[in-house]
Amino acid sequence: MIPAEQILPIDVQHIRSAFPILGRQVKGKPLVYLDNAATTQKPQAVIDALTNYYSGYNANIHRGIHTLAEEATAAYEATRDAVKDFINAPSREEIIFTRGTTESINLVAYTWGRANVQQGDEIIISAMEHHSNIVPWQILCEEKGAVLKVIPVNELGELEMDVYLSLLSEKTKLVSIVHVSNALGTINPVRQIIDAAHKTGAVVLVDGAQSTVHLHIDVQEMDCDFFACSAHKLYGPTGVGILYGKKDILESMPVFLGGGEMIKEVSFDKTTYNELPYKYEAGTPNIADVIAFKYALDFINATGKAAIAQYEHQLLEYGTGQLANIPGLHIIGRARHKASVISFVLDKVHPQDIGILLDNQGIAVRTGHHCAQPLMDCYKIPGTIRASFAMYNTFHEIDALVAGLNKAIKMLS
Ligand code: ALA
Repeated sequence: MIPAEQILPIDVQHIRSAFPILGRQVKGKPLVYLDNAATTQKPQAVIDALTNYYSGYNANIHRGIHTLAEEATAAYEATRDAVKDFINAPSREEIIFTRGTTESINLVAYTWGRANVQQGDEIIISAMEHHSNIVPWQILCEEKGAVLKVIPVNELGELEMDVYLSLLSEKTKLVSIVHVSNALGTINPVRQIIDAAHKTGAVVLVDGAQSTVHLHIDVQEMDCDFFACSAHKLYGPTGVGILYGKKDILESMPVFLGGGEMIKEVSFDKTTYNELPYKYEAGTPNIADVIAFKYALDFINATGKAAIAQYEHQLLEYGTGQLANIPGLHIIGRARHKASVISFVLDKVHPQDIGILLDNQGIAVRTGHHCAQPLMDCYKIPGTIRASFAMYNTFHEIDALVAGLNKAIKMLS
């Protein structure tokens, strides 16, 4: 049953009114946007922040002494403080801006990884990783002669924790694990994973690309060594990522990209490097988008993260129940702890055909392997249809998805 609007933990209609794109039509039908795990839509405040920067105080940062440069620098650095608070990092020096989660993970692989992983060492990942948390480690292992170990996933889509514990040894240098699976929605027990890894002396990177928007993130409580996420999955702009790292580890790591801003002094004899976080931010960054990202975080904070999580869980439960009524539909990923992502397959129908027929009805879902091909191989499927919910989705949109699927199935049979 759809809960009455007045007892919902958030005012969904009020939230929807802040997102201009939600008012548009697709193929003559009202847009039903259920592809939030790929990217979230942006509130007007984020869009305005981009325009205001370019029309009001566009300047390069950290370099100029003129008014525009000072205003731009202050706004850019204000986002760093907002991110620090959002994930409860101990200090702003531990927040590095990148282009996205992928670049954050690669930064660690190319710096910490090259300095600390040697021949015969082991890196542990899981079978439910996104390609961006597989390929950088494969490249590193090939280069160094190290070994990549994989935690298997059970039928429910949960990590086999006993196997994980048995994989850990003094050879393990790094565990790099996804917090919430983009393809299954599984919430992994990262605290337990980190504690066990630390006991063997391994460092842990948590891929928070999907978790940061849904869960309360406290990197100190989690005790991860690195945490990576992307602004565009948090109602912010594309092209902005975060890498959090513990200060002593970041300080000990070699530099990543060389160039302006990451240096203290340059001469042809010797270059000395800047302090954290600038040591890892070479070149002119994505100033406008970083500035606008703060407005997305402010929007989430004003709505209330706990209330959003509660509402998204209601959508997940309602959606799971409604989809289960469709004959021939099988949900892939039934973990006990899940974020608001539902992946499914349909008997005798290719996911892509369903995706096209849903789009014809204005419904946006993602179909395919979700950049997690090894996981699809575990389930022996080419891909799934994935509906992923955000704070602005409604129970009626889930009804529209169910109706859309029934219509598509009829057309294909
Ligand atoms: N990683 C994003 C997704 O799952 C793109 O769709």
